[in-house]
Amino acid sequence: MGTTSPKAVIMDETAVNRAMTRIAHEILERNEGCEDLALVGIVTRGDLLAKKLAEEIKEIEGVDVPLGSLDISFYRDDYATNFAPAIHATNIPFSVDGKRVVLVDDILYTGRTIRAALDAVMDLGRPSRIELAVLVDRGHRELPISPDFVGKNVPSSHEENVHLYMKEVDGHTAVEINDVAPGSHVAPRRWEVSSTVAFNHKHLIDITEYSEEDIKLILETAKAFSEVNERAIKKVPTLKGKTIVNMFNEPSTRTRSSFELAEKRLSADSLNFGGSSTSTVKGESLVDTVETLNAYKIDCIVVRDKHAGAPYIVTQNSPASVICAGDGKHNHPTQALLDLYTIWEHKGDFHGLKVAVVGDIAHSRVCGSLIPALKIMGCETYAVAPGTLLPPAPEVLGCDHVTSDLDSVLPELDVVYMLRVQQERLEGAPFPTIREYHKLFGLTKDREKLMKPDAIICHPGPINRGVEFDSYMADHPQRSVILEQVYAGICVRMAILYLLLGGADNGLAS
Ligand code: CP
Repeated sequence: MGTTSPKAVIMDETAVNRAMTRIAHEILERNEGCEDLALVGIVTRGDLLAKKLAEEIKEIEGVDVPLGSLDISFYRDDYATNFAPAIHATNIPFSVDGKRVVLVDDILYTGRTIRAALDAVMDLGRPSRIELAVLVDRGHRELPISPDFVGKNVPSSHEENVHLYMKEVDGHTAVEINDVAPGSHVAPRRWEVSSTVAFNHKHLIDITEYSEEDIKLILETAKAFSEVNERAIKKVPTLKGKTIVNMFNEPSTRTRSSFELAEKRLSADSLNFGGSSTSTVKGESLVDTVETLNAYKIDCIVVRDKHAGAPYIVTQNSPASVICAGDGKHNHPTQALLDLYTIWEHKGDFHGLKVAVVGDIAHSRVCGSLIPALKIMGCETYAVAPGTLLPPAPEVLGCDHVTSDLDSVLPELDVVYMLRVQQERLEGAPFPTIREYHKLFGLTKDREKLMKPDAIICHPGPINRGVEFDSYMADHPQRSVILEQVYAGICVRMAILYLLLGGADNGLAS
């Protein structure tokens, strides 16, 4: 219970448990047993009730029914107006094909959560039937949805809030009713917003504008999108109606393709645009180009440009959200986020992790975002490069250690992040030969002997075999996570688009 007493306790723990026992019996009677039965709980609370139902069914029939949990965030119809950034990964560890799926939710109100859940389940397969079990039906339906199994009908007004507390997460189990605080309920609330987590960014230009909490939220959201990317139908309707322009004025394989796939998998409309096929070659300025795009009423511009600062200029000339997809030698924030995601998947925690960035640091925009991002997350960072490939004042990078001796630091490292020698941005001759560079700074089979047994190797791509590493290390089955980084690119870019474009003003909380 909270610090103040509720207006009324509608169900105490005994009543909740009794209702779940009764519903378990009703489900078994209606379905004549538990053959092909599966329970899917809607997070948060519906999943806990589904677990209780599964335990009851096990007690009655001696059978473990398949049990899953479903987050309906990607299917909500109020993404643009009532955005709640915190989501939970869907986990349905069985095929729903041919199953009699019982959806389980705590409080049935407008029916919009259930509409979203039905769409979400149908994207996972073709159940033979879907039924709905709820603990409380409080009325006020806005859609033609009725439950098949109900714990208790509770007539309530829009001015009241009906809430299930569960011992597992709240410390006590009860259904309580309270008056909504005056002024907080101008319109009927359609969703139980599951968290107070906020994400108050409109653009992603500079990773240092993001906090550790922001980055954790992006990584958690990317994890939820990873589940979508593992499905047979890799698409959710979340960004339906949003228009995103991918303005790539410089070559790209990974960033461009993963943004485009991320947008398609979120159901946004994508426009791929830029480079030599545009009127830039006829002399049209960046600002005039952006103003032309603005006339199409677009929602987001993803900018890659050889000029540092170009994405920032776009923010000053467009009402759309802007994402930097790499600008000159300056920044590449979504690359840093996908790198963090990959490291997080392998190491679980960032604090105290020793990460070295090795190679052409002077010309690297990847480094410009990655080192600050690693520092924000609590890593110990190393810059390893020949003096000629370090910036004139390496301390501005914010690295904890700067060295030109790879072998002396290799034994300490948890993550070795190799950078491509940026041939297209080199001025002068920073090293005598590729062979010498490879000998001193390349990751080779021989040099692997110096590495920790569980150290991993990252690279942003594109890779130069025979320069930053030999093929043995580039393709190392235990250490090389380069293709995992590519996969993370889709998940992280889906997450950042989802978070930036949610809410009434493209992510900016009023
Ligand atoms: N890592 C990276 O930015 O690759 P692309 O240049 O292929 O997008």
